[in-house]
Amino acid sequence: VGSSAPIPQRVSQLLAAMSTAQKVSVLTGAGGSSYVGFIPAVGALCMPALNLEDGPAGVGDGMGNVTQLPAPVDVAATWDTAAEKLYGQVIGAEQAAKGTTVDLGPTINIVRDPRWGRAFESIGEDPYLNGTLGAADIQGVQSSGVMAQVKHFAVYNQETNRNTPSDNAVVSTRAEQEIYLPAFQAAVQQGAASSVMCSYSTVNGTYACQNPYLLSTVLRQQFGFGGFVTSDWGATHSTAASANAGLNMDMPGNDGYYGSALTSAVSSGAVPTATLNSLVTPVLTEMFAFGLFDEPPAGSPAEPATSSGHVADALQLAEEGTVLLRDNGGVLPLASADKSVAVIGADASSSPLTAGGGSAGVNSSGTVTPLQGITAAAPSGVTVSYNDGSSDSSAAALAASSSVAVVFAGNSESEGSDLSTIDLSSAENSLISAVAAANPHTIVVLNTGSAVTMPWLSSVAGVLEAWYPGQQDGTAIAALLFGTADPSGHLTVTFPQSLSQVPASTAAQWPGTGGTVQYSEGIDVGYRWYDAQGLTPLFPFGYGLSYTTFSFSNLKVSALPKGGAATVTATVTNTGSRAGADVAQLYVTDPAAAGEPPRQLAGFARVNLAPGASQTVSFPLTQRNLSYWNTGSNAWATATGSYGIEVGD
Ligand code: BGC
Repeated sequence: VGSSAPIPQRVSQLLAAMSTAQKVSVLTGAGGSSYVGFIPAVGALCMPALNLEDGPAGVGDGMGNVTQLPAPVDVAATWDTAAEKLYGQVIGAEQAAKGTTVDLGPTINIVRDPRWGRAFESIGEDPYLNGTLGAADIQGVQSSGVMAQVKHFAVYNQETNRNTPSDNAVVSTRAEQEIYLPAFQAAVQQGAASSVMCSYSTVNGTYACQNPYLLSTVLRQQFGFGGFVTSDWGATHSTAASANAGLNMDMPGNDGYYGSALTSAVSSGAVPTATLNSLVTPVLTEMFAFGLFDEPPAGSPAEPATSSGHVADALQLAEEGTVLLRDNGGVLPLASADKSVAVIGADASSSPLTAGGGSAGVNSSGTVTPLQGITAAAPSGVTVSYNDGSSDSSAAALAASSSVAVVFAGNSESEGSDLSTIDLSSAENSLISAVAAANPHTIVVLNTGSAVTMPWLSSVAGVLEAWYPGQQDGTAIAALLFGTADPSGHLTVTFPQSLSQVPASTAAQWPGTGGTVQYSEGIDVGYRWYDAQGLTPLFPFGYGLSYTTFSFSNLKVSALPKGGAATVTATVTNTGSRAGADVAQLYVTDPAAAGEPPRQLAGFARVNLAPGASQTVSFPLTQRNLSYWNTGSNAWATATGSYGIEVGD
């Protein structure tokens, strides 16, 4: 303690002073704390405790006096690395106030299917997007002195049968390398995540937390990860096999696999002492790197973590992540002629869907409902009326006598179970249709964690996807409806026309049959599938409108020097009459010989533009962006031929 020696030296000095039992205690969760995960302090070694707490959307696990930020999918829809970093900073700051040393987040698993119960707490369906935004989130969390634990490694894409042998994902190495693993590479390399949580999944017959291919070949060797791996809660299924595969920490630690069982395995030689040391080393390394020995964390669970600044950040992020999907006839933003606004639906008042459930659930320190937000923001002379939507005819009557009707509808997602459908309830669909029939100026605001179908789409004038917007729900949606904020979010998942269009549409693929889940769609996940199959979805990945309009021009691609990067540039122009933000997206088309889907995202840039203004966006493009996983050589390879480069929104 207090030494200024290099970290590896401090680690080896400490390791040399530790007994086997002390080493094992650093690897084994213990009870007796108010955090969801706990590694006790070792007083004799001046070693502080580790306090692990959920999660990806802010301080979870029922702690109070915290800010309910927008759901991770909402922040992801900003396609804004600065917003994602801010999100991480607020999460990290609130965790620090609570005395947490390891934040259990972000969740960066690929949204393989919109029915996944945890789609709301992840980022989206593209590995590059998940990796880039996940890394920014991690940088934000860790900039506040709290470790980030990126999760769940890997191929964890459904809740059904999770953590049972019946959840055996049969997935090709190519799909792992191209789709399910790259975001984790970005998380540990660009994001410098301190730790990784291994998942509940069984991957090609071996539990993820004892999987040598995942933990050793990929994470340690291929990605060069030097931090520690913690089991998801209850995801450890063995002692020696887990330790020898590289599982550093067992959580919550009451399963009997680490603790005294690990001590016995070391004394019997089933787990070599050298292996034990190699498991302890990354934990100590991260503890030194985050300064835990030099200055033990000051916060505590009773301390208030929320602040007016964090609530303001929650509002900004909710506004920025909301996606405008339809704006027929310029119904939005509401105009001065809209003298009476009918607000309809329980989601607008008595039961606002502001957050998802499970370990990514976060308490609110004061929710603004949509009805409250709209009432507070309505310009003078505008009346706001409310109908809870329990009767189609009374809601339709209010809509008919109002200038405009705004219907709130959604579905709730929670960890632990998947959705059986991507349809809203039939009651909500029928309410929306009844209101739309009564007033052509009907706007639907959706609060969902992922894609939903919209059978009424052609009869409504406007649709906003507001995700789970957190406690500033009503203030954010009012600013967008009245046009004090411009919608600028873009979808991070494809919205299909119906479930029959999704890549994993058979029971063998989702949720699996006979103990296996066949990832037979291979690399055709998300928009890659729709493009490859020539399917037209309801709304594509990357889609999102604004109250202004944009054009793209001047696409240029420089030469790609060996070992370097080509530069792709394009001009984005705001062609409308108000300020707004757009997301320029770069897609690569490989030569047919590569066997890749038609288009893959390889860059994105968010631009804020005044009316009439232009900006040049610039993207580096390396050989890796043009590569595919060659199954024969078990390595990345580049096909010879013509590559297509597209930039657009
Ligand atoms: C979840 C993790 C979470 C952990 C601790 C598990 O059920 O899968 O994401 O961090 O619980 O709450």
